[in-house]
Amino acid sequence: MDFSLSEEHLMIRDAARDFAQNELLPGVIERDEKQEFPTEQVKRMGELGFLGMMVDPKYGGGGMDTVSYVLAMEELSKVDASCSVIVSVNNSLVCWGLETFGTEEQKQKYLTRLATGEVIGAFCLSEPEAGSDATSQKTTAIDKGDHYLLNGTKNWITNGGTADVYLVIAQTDIEKGHKGINALIVEKGMPGFEIGPKEQKLGIRGSDTHSLMFTDVKVPKENRIGEDGFGFKFAMKTLSGGRIGIAAQALGIASGAYELAKEYSKVRKAFGTEICNHQAIAFKLADMHTQIEAARHLVMKAAWDKDNGHNYDLSGAMAKLYASQVAMDTSVEAVQVHGGNGFVKEYHVERLMRDAKITQIYEGTSEIQKIVISRSILRD
Ligand code: CAA
Repeated sequence: MDFSLSEEHLMIRDAARDFAQNELLPGVIERDEKQEFPTEQVKRMGELGFLGMMVDPKYGGGGMDTVSYVLAMEELSKVDASCSVIVSVNNSLVCWGLETFGTEEQKQKYLTRLATGEVIGAFCLSEPEAGSDATSQKTTAIDKGDHYLLNGTKNWITNGGTADVYLVIAQTDIEKGHKGINALIVEKGMPGFEIGPKEQKLGIRGSDTHSLMFTDVKVPKENRIGEDGFGFKFAMKTLSGGRIGIAAQALGIASGAYELAKEYSKVRKAFGTEICNHQAIAFKLADMHTQIEAARHLVMKAAWDKDNGHNYDLSGAMAKLYASQVAMDTSVEAVQVHGGNGFVKEYHVERLMRDAKITQIYEGTSEIQKIVISRSILRD
């Protein structure tokens, strides 16, 4: 068994690390404070190829594997999880779904622009009453022959205000349950499509999260992804890969918080010595390091499963469940190691602690991951 990374993987990781340190770190505190979307940073991420990392180069992507993607996600998330969620949604939920299940026309029309970052995308599944219970879609897409008539409301949509391309999940035939659900490509500006106010959030405050309202939006039939009734499976398959991206985000938040705590403990003195010399602190660092390493193994295994054609529903859910818990625990401990300074914005760890929480909620709560895991292990 070989745990080493290839030269190419190391290059991608280092490029993401340099970009994060040089171009995301400056201004990250202010963007968080003002809830400011990182427009310039997203443009740069598009130019550097972070927005379509795994997409085939013939559609403008980087043609990279999932291991490369999670390495980049970890580095970006160490510094700015608001930027990395934009990367994750665009890569895993939008580009991957379109590339894997879209028609050639859809790929030419939408994927090429999404993969290069010319535009960004959003994935619209959650509703006021259908977050975890994703089959209970109230948004309807009624078949009108050459188009669907879309009505309903979506909630908590990442990139909701800034996206140009929206993949919207909606119910066409309630009688058919999950087999009556479709996934439609909706463009910003289609008549009847309105964007609600920006949510005021605890964490990942730089990313824009909105409600979306659809009133008699005419969506052409050619904008449906896959066969009639494929929308629920489209969402589930897409989310399975998305969870690997969020697991990598959680890993990045955890390792970012840990590295800050470790460095701080080597310079801050108390009782006549650097605080890392006290077991109270050294043992915290030992726990953090061990948990992060365990999370990294789960994240890498899930990415490896995806790259090697294995089923990754189980490994992706385990990676997300565990890494998000580690992100939460580690960031809380990192604040503790910093003492009073941990509560102050300029030390960064309080932001990482706030950002960590969402990794236990979006793309399936921790409870949803346990449903996926338990069903999978009990089926075997
Ligand atoms: N791949 C393929 N098919 C799948 C699948 C998968 N990963 N998971 C389920 N399916 C299929 C099942 O096989 C079944 O098909 P058949 O009837 O043909 O056998 C069908 O889908 C229904 O499956 P279930 O009976 O398991 O469905 P369920 O209602 O019990 O729900 C669930 C399963 C796992 C709880 C699911 O509803 C779920 O994942 N919920 C969470 C949704 C979620 O992650 N929401 C987050 C929103 S997106 C977001 O956060 C994006 C963002 O902006 C960051």
